[in-house]
Amino acid sequence: MGILRTGTTSAAVRIQVSRTGRPALAPRLKARSLHEQIGLPAELPLDQIIVDDCVAALERLPAASVDLIFADPPYNLQLGGDLRRPDDSLVDAVDDDWDKFSSFADYDAFTRAWLTAARRVLKPDGALWVIGSYHNIFRVGAILQDLGFWMLNDIVWRKANPMPNFRGRRFTNAHETLIWAARGESSKYTFHYEALKGGNDDLQMRSDWYLPLCTGEERLKDGAGTKVHPTQKPEALLARVMLSASNPGDVILDPFFGTGTTGAVAKALGRRFIGIERDTTYAEAARKRIAGIQPLPPEAFATAPSKRSEPRVPFLSLVEAGLVKAGETVTDAKRRHTAVIRADGTLVLGPAVGSIHKVGALVQGLPSCNGWTFWHVERPAGLTLLDDLRGEIRAQMTAA
Ligand SMILES: C[S@@+](CC[C@H](N)C(=O)[O-])C[C@H]1O[C@@H](n2cnc3c(N)ncnc32)[C@H](O)[C@@H]1O
Repeated sequence: MGILRTGTTSAAVRIQVSRTGRPALAPRLKARSLHEQIGLPAELPLDQIIVDDCVAALERLPAASVDLIFADPPYNLQLGGDLRRPDDSLVDAVDDDWDKFSSFADYDAFTRAWLTAARRVLKPDGALWVIGSYHNIFRVGAILQDLGFWMLNDIVWRKANPMPNFRGRRFTNAHETLIWAARGESSKYTFHYEALKGGNDDLQMRSDWYLPLCTGEERLKDGAGTKVHPTQKPEALLARVMLSASNPGDVILDPFFGTGTTGAVAKALGRRFIGIERDTTYAEAARKRIAGIQPLPPEAFATAPSKRSEPRVPFLSLVEAGLVKAGETVTDAKRRHTAVIRADGTLVLGPAVGSIHKVGALVQGLPSCNGWTFWHVERPAGLTLLDDLRGEIRAQMTAA
């Protein structure tokens, strides 16, 4: 059972099919919509799947309208012939036409086209995630830098259950790479550092993520038990991307929608999505899948305010509020260092006088220190962190 699957609800997306039987765009997406003709920005096809080539569809969307893009483009795997296991059974490899390109130059031209179109629809502070393997990710990375995107991280998705290298000629290919890039160098991109740390036993979240492949009930199968899509991504991977780099209500676009993993997770986590997928079968499977997703209750995905967005409280305010007293001492968790609080909100320790951060760094011989989380005061209940006392002032400020 997928982590986000909690029940069913009515359909939230639709694919329009024209009289010729070919997928058609929603009328509002036709070139120069009524909105545009009368000078209004084009309406966004929120929570819909556009069945079309992604470059063409992206070019019809309004510029600077999307908060985040998650892209899982063709890998250009270049498989030659069937891949078989030692028992001669056929491996279900990605050999679909959508993954075939005539040359690297052909793949690069395609990559440049969709990345250019994607960058245009991103808001100035937007960001893009793109996932790939060693076959394509380096080409994609170079092109996105050439286009002005600003690399933030590359994430290694380490697969808990990778497919072995059946021929034993190479290492097990046990990871994929995700590039996270801001639209440009000056973009104020979204990153929920504190939330991720909180969910990681209060340790900074690292760039290597250990997650299983998409299997079990989460994996879409047809009536005959065959996988609907060869590269359906795990919902947990998309959830981590969205929880780290988007806010509830944000618009998240996926130009290679496949079975709609991005849409399913976006709906569950209170985000809006726009999916683009060329293949009608995949798009229809995605539509059905997303219709069965029940959004989580808002408190389950509301973004906790980050420490940086909390009001600044100088240490002197603690002295002025009487939460600490001039002349009393502060000490570290193991009571190895003791400094005296001065009336002006600085600390003194021997000849050293300075802020709680500066004196904390000095006693440890470190270049920097967060004095709020280093120093404590003695209270009847035991050692109390300065950060907790600062929290009391912040709570008063918020209540006022
Ligand atoms: C790697 S798969 C994405 C799988 C998806 N992340 C999922 O979880 O199901 C790439 C998808 O892009 C689609 N595709 C390939 N080229 C496309 C194009 N030019 N425009 C739109 N879709 C395209 C393919 O049909 C395929 O479903």
